[in-house]
Amino acid sequence: MNLELQSTASANLETELLVVFAADRNTSKEKDATPEVDLLTPDEGVRQAVGWVLGSGEFKAKANETLLLHAPQGLKAARLLLVGLGNLTKASIHDLRKGVGTAIRFAKPRSITCLAILPPANFGTAHTYRAIAEGAIVADFDSDTYRTDRKDQSISLVSIFVTEADRKAAEAGLHEGTVVGEAQNFARSLINEPGNRMTPTMLGQKALEMAREFSLQCEVYGAEKLHELKMGAFWSVAQGSDEPPALIVMTYEPADAPTGPVLGLVGKGITFDTGGISLKPADNMEKMKYDMAGGAAMIAAMRAIAQLRPHVKVIGIVCAAENMPSGKAQKPGDIQIAMSGKSIEVINTDAEGRLVLADGLFYARQLGATHLIDAATLTGAVAIALGQVNAGVFSNDDLAYEHFARGLETSGEKFWRLPVEDEYRDQIRSSIADIQNTGLTRYGGATNAAMFLREFVDDTPWVHLDIAALAWLDAEKPWIAKGPSGVAVRSIVEWVRSYAADESALQ
Ligand code: BES
Ligand code: ZN
Ligand code: ZN
Repeated sequence: MNLELQSTASANLETELLVVFAADRNTSKEKDATPEVDLLTPDEGVRQAVGWVLGSGEFKAKANETLLLHAPQGLKAARLLLVGLGNLTKASIHDLRKGVGTAIRFAKPRSITCLAILPPANFGTAHTYRAIAEGAIVADFDSDTYRTDRKDQSISLVSIFVTEADRKAAEAGLHEGTVVGEAQNFARSLINEPGNRMTPTMLGQKALEMAREFSLQCEVYGAEKLHELKMGAFWSVAQGSDEPPALIVMTYEPADAPTGPVLGLVGKGITFDTGGISLKPADNMEKMKYDMAGGAAMIAAMRAIAQLRPHVKVIGIVCAAENMPSGKAQKPGDIQIAMSGKSIEVINTDAEGRLVLADGLFYARQLGATHLIDAATLTGAVAIALGQVNAGVFSNDDLAYEHFARGLETSGEKFWRLPVEDEYRDQIRSSIADIQNTGLTRYGGATNAAMFLREFVDDTPWVHLDIAALAWLDAEKPWIAKGPSGVAVRSIVEWVRSYAADESALQ
């Protein structure tokens, strides 16, 4: 998909589809207030072309509502698509991102390949163009790679109107949005691959290719390195599979980086999670190819970081393994010694994500990370707690969490903070080892997993993202296809940028 800025007045613009946004300007708090639908463009030609429709009341400008006009009067565009952004008192840049996505996904199945967007002037120039780029790129992705009947439908050109005065800021926004949107789609393409086509070794290969393309340092280690580093927790998951594990280490270090902070990004890369000897039921097990979504998010975030070049050193680590039952697999009750030296009683081999992350987080600290973030499809329990609207975020440090929360204002992703506190420590106490890998009770499962991880970060400021409920979309939304969502990529990138932008955090 190509995105270009253009300055031709809308009336003269020859395009297959002109996209225009509208909102409800009614400020009344009453529930049944009649919407006051208005276009979010001052363009006279467009206002005239759609005037009668707005007056008819058939279009309420609800969020992601669409209305198509063919051969709009007085315009050279073949079609005009109205997209609603909801009530203007509440509408934000995040509604615009979705609105743009809605327009792209409206056009895609209708064999429209080129379209033009008339941006609203309500949200600030750079933010607006960034949101447009992100929304368009993310919406263009479909997980139909293996369908021989796929139509290869894709939007090839999106022209976005800009005034000469806004062009510079628009270009900057467009660049950021393109980098981040493409990174998110890169994560989605990795997650979409099934277990037989995305083994730990293949994921390592993808990281190496990406690193070469974007000039990052990258090393991929196999089983020997795990033994050398005494990564007993990581290895215990990998040992049951014929596929060797991959420890992926990516480094971004700008020439004049400050000595601190050094940010460590750690991802769960279970390329298939059968549960191991604690085997999962057959229903939905095919979905467990997405158990490397946290790892994919980290590889993709490193890709965006390499392009956006924040002024801070970043180390990305992905612990990739396949969780399989076999004669070599670990058994419930086995005791494993993590790289940190802590002993772990493995109660359930299906709680494998925390085992690989235990060593990944500890290793990131050994490599010099002063601040940590991890992403993992870690627990079913987080879906019970938060549903499929918010992902879970946990932190042992309010400042590190603040950096993350600040990033959410830009990324627009939804995360809800859940507790990690000493009072939960009893849940992971084992009678024969330092800790056990499941909670004593079923309650608070997402926190129990976070408590387990906390054992390996100690006092290092740390943010943990449990994305199990949002990494895979079971149904499409108007602005995004079903399948891998690429959730967390944007927020991780913003977390990193938030440190680089904070003078007081730099040393
Ligand atoms: N990969 C799963 C978590 C998961 C569940 C991700 C559903 C996506 C959708 C994880 O490895 C797992 O199996 N966790 C167990 C932990 C339990 C045994 C303590 C779970 O959540 O049931
Ligand atoms: Zn599992
Ligand atoms: Zn898992």
